[in-house]
Amino acid sequence: MTSIRRIAVMTSGGDAPGMNPAVRAVVRTASAQGVEVYGIRQAYSGLLSGDFERMTNRDVSGIIQRGGTILQTARNQEFRTAQGQKRGLRRLNEHGIEGLVVIGGDGSLRGGLTLHQLGFPVIGVPGSIDNDIWGTDMSIGVDTSLNTILDAVDKLRDTASSHERCFLLEVMGRNCGYLATMGGILGGAEFILVPEFPTTLEQIGKALEDAYMKGKSHAMGVIAEGATPKIHEVAEYLESHDIGFEVRVTVLGHVVRGGKPSAFDRLLATRLGVRAVELLLAGESGKMVGLHGPDIGTVSLEDATTKQRAVGEEYVQMAEFLAK
Ligand code: F6P
Repeated sequence: MTSIRRIAVMTSGGDAPGMNPAVRAVVRTASAQGVEVYGIRQAYSGLLSGDFERMTNRDVSGIIQRGGTILQTARNQEFRTAQGQKRGLRRLNEHGIEGLVVIGGDGSLRGGLTLHQLGFPVIGVPGSIDNDIWGTDMSIGVDTSLNTILDAVDKLRDTASSHERCFLLEVMGRNCGYLATMGGILGGAEFILVPEFPTTLEQIGKALEDAYMKGKSHAMGVIAEGATPKIHEVAEYLESHDIGFEVRVTVLGHVVRGGKPSAFDRLLATRLGVRAVELLLAGESGKMVGLHGPDIGTVSLEDATTKQRAVGEEYVQMAEFLAK
């Protein structure tokens, strides 16, 4: 164990269900070692403005089941500049902070890597519904979001089959189609559309026409927001090419980011939060904790933020033959 007496924690980037249990685990693990914790409000924005707040075990009572993040979050541009980074370091020093846990997605973890490279101890925790972070099987929030998507798919299926309609459902995922792929496979969709594998309007039309000709009572397409073509283009194409089914569009948007964390996300967040503090107190830095099979392991923040993670083609193929 090192001599660290005071650490800080922030949640950054898009909020994800499970960030609160992660913060709770950080605070209580540190506290069990007699280490003080400060919460930094609104991520790097709060770091720059000095919005730090002492957090005790009581401050994280009753938050394990809450979605969002009690520390709030932000996407900050200023911290990307050298001047912003110096100011951030200065604020940490002013508050006597000796280590930082950053909970967030790839942009947030890149900020953590920068602080580490400037000599400040940082451990990253992957928190993003997109599941696009390299170095962890699952990020905090993914499981809950996927369950929200499946709930929507199941409900849409009820109305779709009642009217013999095709529903197009857009879910979050600007650069990564994990949620759309898994939501599509597990929701029994006729097609999925993800940024990693562009599809033509003709291919989509053909898949749906086949489904109609086979006698299916309804059809479903799950589309990631960053996919090509876009959901409205797909809808326009299908409406102007008689595919048999009537077409309706649903955009889930930020609904996918809300809700109380699932048991899986609470457990993952808790395990990652505990390990992050253990590593910081053991004098480690520049690492991200992650789920590696059944274990919590680590990768370098450098690898986590530079290596790409995308949906495997095998899943896209799986979605295709399972829909037949
Ligand atoms: O990175 C998480 C995410 O929810 C993406 O899926 C989505 O594209 C983006 O954030 C939306 O960001 P914002 O909440 O800033 O609109």
